[in-house]
Amino acid sequence: MDALGTGPGWWHGATVYQIYVRSWRDSDGDGYGDLRGVIAGLDYLAWLGVDGIWLSPTMPSPDDDWGYDVSDYLGVHPELGTLADLDLLVEEAGRRGLKVLLDLVPNHTSSAHPWFADARSGPGSAHRGYYVWADPAADGGPPNNWRDSTGAPAWTFDAASGQYYLHNFLPSQPDLNWWHPAVHREFGEILRFWFDRGIAGFRIDVAHGLYKDAALRDDPPAPAGHGLLTGRSGLAQVYSANRPQSHAVFRDWRAIAESYSPPRLLLGETWVGDLDRMAAFHGHGDELQLTFNFPFIFADFTAAALSGVVARTLAVLPAGECPVWTASNHDISRFPTRWCAGDERKARLALLVLATLPGTFVLYYGDEIAMTDVAVPAGQRRDAMTADRPGGGRDAARTPMHWDSSPSAGFTAGGARPWLPSGETRGRNVVAQRGDPRSTLEFCRDLLALRRAEFGGTITAYRELPGAPGVWSYQAGDLLVAANFSDEDVCLPGLAPGLLLSTNAGAARPGPVTALRPWEGVIARPYRRRTA
Ligand code: NOJ
Repeated sequence: MDALGTGPGWWHGATVYQIYVRSWRDSDGDGYGDLRGVIAGLDYLAWLGVDGIWLSPTMPSPDDDWGYDVSDYLGVHPELGTLADLDLLVEEAGRRGLKVLLDLVPNHTSSAHPWFADARSGPGSAHRGYYVWADPAADGGPPNNWRDSTGAPAWTFDAASGQYYLHNFLPSQPDLNWWHPAVHREFGEILRFWFDRGIAGFRIDVAHGLYKDAALRDDPPAPAGHGLLTGRSGLAQVYSANRPQSHAVFRDWRAIAESYSPPRLLLGETWVGDLDRMAAFHGHGDELQLTFNFPFIFADFTAAALSGVVARTLAVLPAGECPVWTASNHDISRFPTRWCAGDERKARLALLVLATLPGTFVLYYGDEIAMTDVAVPAGQRRDAMTADRPGGGRDAARTPMHWDSSPSAGFTAGGARPWLPSGETRGRNVVAQRGDPRSTLEFCRDLLALRRAEFGGTITAYRELPGAPGVWSYQAGDLLVAANFSDEDVCLPGLAPGLLLSTNAGAARPGPVTALRPWEGVIARPYRRRTA
């Protein structure tokens, strides 16, 4: 960003660290992470070398969906802290050069939000039109076939008014009606409220949701291969979500974001199964600046699958738009489990690739120490939406950060019981890894330092290079990357670069790299020909 606030945004080539606040650091010993805990961890993040943080929902909420059911868009959840704590966090982060992004939930509110309480009071209420209400079908059942994220009907009957209301998620998360102009005004004010306080931007929850079909047409059955779009319903969400009118909302928000200096960032949770639809959320460079890439997240952990998604992503994004690379978040299994079956060599290889692709890298807390999922026992589950799923549902990826090897993982003060179990804390924790040159944490730190020095402020050129089967080689800016996604040693004929970093941590090999070990990745600088 130059002095006029034009040019590439700070997120180009940057690293953003996602903090699931309840699980990161508990400062007051109640077993829940909080904003003061985040402040206490800022020095660690500055040491690690990230550029910004994204905080999972911080607003007041009954927590049926742990903050994704907002009851006040202008406040801070009392269990996490106060507005003053958040202001202090922004200030302290700023002193360390870190930006702070919040999570915005515009698709639905909590049923405890005063808007919904009023809407429910009757058809003539001031806020009735903020939500999606419909009369029963002829048989008295739900108005159409739409299903919520649990697979149940997406409509709940309100006996008092004789109508149904829509919820694409839990019944206590009624969907907002984006056809209503007042909803636009409300969210414009919400954006400005937080931007005025120095919030650097928002991750936009369910960005593909917002508008619903005005005629409430039935969703059609999902074609084969559209699993990502359908959730558990078997339906393609072409009418209950994914409507084209949402683009106008993002154009309005982009104008608001760019009325600030520096411009604020809009990062969409664009949970769509194809890259063209993801790219459409960038508009003509006038909608969301960043979009999460779910086809990449759900690709197989092979050189061919990942490089294929990367090539297609770069081909479909409008010129100058910045891709996002991430592989873990609070809704899915962590990549060291999902992609790597716990193998730390593979986790380092994934980090190396994520950090050298052109664009923004979003790291989920714990990725830097290769934290794996924790199988949360049935009696300790916290996530209502996935309570019946085997293996821990979404809770498995939301367990406390491993700061040390103590039973509470150093997450909570005063011996309190963490809100979710910590799992096995030995080995993969910050204290054990910090200072050990062979650790994933030190590797990740070196990687981020190299990334900042080489890529900071730019979207580097990417060019795939020919490689042996199972090896993904590419040029990233001025550097060469070679990643061996196989169990075999492979030669790198003709590459002969100067090694800068290897996932084989601690195994310093001065001079040219001519072979890769199984699951090893390297970053190297090509030798430049001397000109006579
Ligand atoms: C996506 C969020 O990441 C997820 O945690 C939440 O349950 C749904 N949106 C509904 O808000």
